[in-house]
Amino acid sequence: MARRKTRKSVSRKAKTDVQYSVSPAGEKFPIPRKEDYAAELARLKRQVSRARKEGKEIVVVMGVGFVGAVMAAIVADSEDNKGRPGKFVIGCQRPSTRSYWKIPLLNRGQSPVKAEDPEVDRMIARCVQDKKTLIATYNSDCLKLADCVVVDVQCDYTKHELGNMRTGEADMAALEATMRTIGDKIPPKCLVLIETTVAPGTTEFVAWPILKKAFAARGLKSAPLLAHSFERVMPGRDYVASIRDFWRVCSGCNAEARRRVEKFLRQVLNTKDYPLTIMDRPIESETTKIVENSYRATILAFLNEWSLFAERNGVDLIKVIRAIKMRPTHSNIIFPGPGIGGYCLPKDGGLGYWAYRHILGFEDGDSVFKITPEAVDINDTRGLHVAELVRDALRNMGRYIAHADVLVCGASYRQDVGDTRYSGSEMVVRKLTEMGAEIRAHDPYVDHWYELEKQDVYPAPGHSWQRFFRNQGELENVRVQKDLRAALKGAEAVVFAVPHEPYLGLKPDEVVRWAGQPLAVIDCFGILSDEQIRRYFELGCEVKALGRGHIQRIKDAVRKKLRR
Ligand SMILES: NC(=O)c1ccc[n+]([C@@H]2O[C@H](COP(=O)([O-])OP(=O)(O)OC[C@H]3O[C@@H](n4cnc5c(N)ncnc54)[C@H](O)[C@@H]3O)[C@@H](O)[C@H]2O)c1
Repeated sequence: MARRKTRKSVSRKAKTDVQYSVSPAGEKFPIPRKEDYAAELARLKRQVSRARKEGKEIVVVMGVGFVGAVMAAIVADSEDNKGRPGKFVIGCQRPSTRSYWKIPLLNRGQSPVKAEDPEVDRMIARCVQDKKTLIATYNSDCLKLADCVVVDVQCDYTKHELGNMRTGEADMAALEATMRTIGDKIPPKCLVLIETTVAPGTTEFVAWPILKKAFAARGLKSAPLLAHSFERVMPGRDYVASIRDFWRVCSGCNAEARRRVEKFLRQVLNTKDYPLTIMDRPIESETTKIVENSYRATILAFLNEWSLFAERNGVDLIKVIRAIKMRPTHSNIIFPGPGIGGYCLPKDGGLGYWAYRHILGFEDGDSVFKITPEAVDINDTRGLHVAELVRDALRNMGRYIAHADVLVCGASYRQDVGDTRYSGSEMVVRKLTEMGAEIRAHDPYVDHWYELEKQDVYPAPGHSWQRFFRNQGELENVRVQKDLRAALKGAEAVVFAVPHEPYLGLKPDEVVRWAGQPLAVIDCFGILSDEQIRRYFELGCEVKALGRGHIQRIKDAVRKKLRR
């Protein structure tokens, strides 16, 4: 007999249908249901009407990730020439299971991004709780209330092969979807400012047509006001200053958009001390971003060959770089670590290469672009060499990499930040795992290494670097440890992959005592002083490092002394 559906079983089913978005701290937030949207819009309208009465301009920031969350707070914190808040900001984020949690957090005055700059937390709390100039929502109908929309969604570059960026492609889906939503909803005179790093040509030849088409469908006669101004944010100790107190470049699709974007940026950023550069066309400001990041990536890739030269010829590249930096003209040369991660440097050259063909229509990309693709490919695969160093150091100690316990210190892409996107450490860990090592990870700034923990869906289903290696399954069990002493216990090798501050002063005697035995020590960033290297050898350890060929000399000297 078919069971009759009781009211109880229906409501139980409704309950199980609720989807949740879980914050990194583990807090569960139910995803809003269809029937919640109307009440949410009413709440937004009430807040906006109050803000308008106070003479504030309404700014919607689309995408409250690493850039958007902090930019939203900077705009909300800005003041007019009478020292009064001039903007009311609504951060808007899709209510996906992955990202929705950012909205309730922001509405409480808590930052959705973990930052080493204490000003991020303070500023968000101040704007939400005290000034009441910042709120967040999942309801994109907030766009109907906007005077200005700032777009901070991602635009990734997906690589299909390891070490070959030429076969990759720009992932425009999030940006295109956002532009369609904006076009359908904004008032005709609203300024739209794209801050996302985009493939050159995107603003004028992809985004503007989407907006124009949407305006035409709505029967609007005016041209959409679209501008571009890329972010140069550096998450880390100067997170806020790297947005607010930093030089900006901007441009607009027409004269009115150019005038409006200039006015807006002068109101919200410190353009008095950090002058604004205004370009004629968006493709020029888009290209500025791609060229400056490709330039950085190229210097780092170029130093890779000199790093290998140094390792094999008794030269310490750290000292070479220090000597070069004495010349003021060469002072921004930097040591290439195990990978050039962070969200931007690995992808931005690809966006330029891809745009040349797929947006701008040229077929000779491979004869024009020689250096940029090569630089990205070298940087993407540099971590593989670290695995060779670990293997060789263990071999010199009579151990095998297979089944060795290896602690990787540092999961993020650069020192003293908690952002793990495309970090060199991930490449190191994946290659070591393929070779059979048992991985442990430590990082003072990272709580979850999602690239490992959620590798089937992170950064997106089918996009994890796990697809380039074998035997990666176990990595989802790796948890980032905070207690270095405990993490080191029993380790046979330690890889200092990122020069986080807590690693710089570590005493070799302590490290060996905590490990409980001499171990292989691999330095990826010139973290160890010569004195520390010497001491590790005296304690029976083996030391290897990227770009530091002089280590062999130190080793020989220690062995000679011990033989005497
Ligand atoms: N992170 C950096 O250090 C940095 C530095 C300079 C420039 N940038 C550029 O800034 C842009 C944003 O980067 P990020 O680090 O903030 O990325 P992110 O992934 O942290 O944030 C993007 C956010 O947009 C949201 N989003 C996606 N589609 C959306 C939609 N349709 N509507 C609303 N929200 C949507 C995502 O859920 C996410 O929260 C990128 O172009 C990046 O290259 C980043």
